[in-house]
Amino acid sequence: MLPPPVYDIRKSYEDNYTFGPFFGGIIPKPIPPAGSLAFLGHKVASRIGIPAGPLLNARWIGFYARLGFDILTYKTVRSHFHPSYPNPNCLYVPYHKPFDLEDLTHPLIGTLAYTPASMHDVTITNSFGMPSQDPAIWMEDVKKANSLLGEKQILVVSVVGTPQDDIGIEGDFARTARLAKNAGAEFIEVNFSCPNVKGKEGQLYQDPESSGKVLSQIRESIGPDVRLIMKIGFLEDPGKIRNLVEKTGPYLNAISAINTVTGTIINPEGRPALPGSGRERSGLCGSAIKPLALKTIRGLKTEVASQKKDLTVIGVGGFNAIEDYTEFRQAGADFVMTATGAMWDPFLAYHLKQRNAPES
Ligand SMILES: Cc1cc2nc3c(=O)[nH]c(=O)nc-3n(C[C@H](O)[C@H](O)[C@H](O)COP(=O)(O)O)c2cc1C
Repeated sequence: MLPPPVYDIRKSYEDNYTFGPFFGGIIPKPIPPAGSLAFLGHKVASRIGIPAGPLLNARWIGFYARLGFDILTYKTVRSHFHPSYPNPNCLYVPYHKPFDLEDLTHPLIGTLAYTPASMHDVTITNSFGMPSQDPAIWMEDVKKANSLLGEKQILVVSVVGTPQDDIGIEGDFARTARLAKNAGAEFIEVNFSCPNVKGKEGQLYQDPESSGKVLSQIRESIGPDVRLIMKIGFLEDPGKIRNLVEKTGPYLNAISAINTVTGTIINPEGRPALPGSGRERSGLCGSAIKPLALKTIRGLKTEVASQKKDLTVIGVGGFNAIEDYTEFRQAGADFVMTATGAMWDPFLAYHLKQRNAPES
């Protein structure tokens, strides 16, 4: 049986934001960096990070930094306050085999009444609707988060644009990225792939032309020095990947893949498992999505190499246990991140560094 997650899925987003992380253990002494590594030109102690999601604010960033995760992503923020969907926001999806696309065409059971026996059993759905604090709050907090990093650790701030009547979604993406830069962010990730929102911002990566246009405005607004990462969802068609890399590459330093994949989640009685309309389908993450992540990473890596683009590939999705790490590296991920895995096993980076020091 696993210990309870550090992000308490029985509690609301607000309670996790205010009172988390929930951890009663001992933080071990950091393992010294094995060698010299650079992430988009900046020194980092390892290739291990946490993507946008569980790190709700500076306290969360500081906690996971102390546990040896070296590339830490601040959960996606907006240009204005936006509430979270009500609790529950995460449910276990007790599915004991890795997903293929066919699996995602059937409803899947989501429940809190499950006890995973190992990290390989931790597949969940999450549905938050991309909440955000007001910029006045998150900008101050980003400054604080930056001050809590150790040597050779970096902070990425994830941002999303919201469609606006006057400036459109691209204008709001550019504005939010600019706010992040003003808060001291040197690394900005744009979320082009959130299945849990109803608006156009949800699946921008599916439209390479529009993605390129939005990125060009973002780049103009943040200038050439800030490192820019695009977060995308599952993609397997080589033609689509080629087109996306072609249209977006000129503005980017890295691509991060994948975000959650969408499924229909029901309770054991067959009704929608998450309360409220628009939540019948929600994002799946954790162990079972690993094959979909690896497929996307392989496709991206091939295309980046064939177009000779100077783009870093960040692998995300189902990295739940130390043995998964090598698979991501072999698929072509230059850096590897875990959201669900880190929620249930905050020692994942530490144990990986212990076992795998030179390669970490
Ligand atoms: C609790 C939680 C919240 C998340 N919130 C965000 C978010 O705000 N922005 C984003 O780009 N991805 C978000 N994600 C998606 C993760 O960054 C990641 O792409 C996905 O969970 C797959 O990785 P995993 O299998 O390691 O969890 C979230 C994931 C989780 C588990």
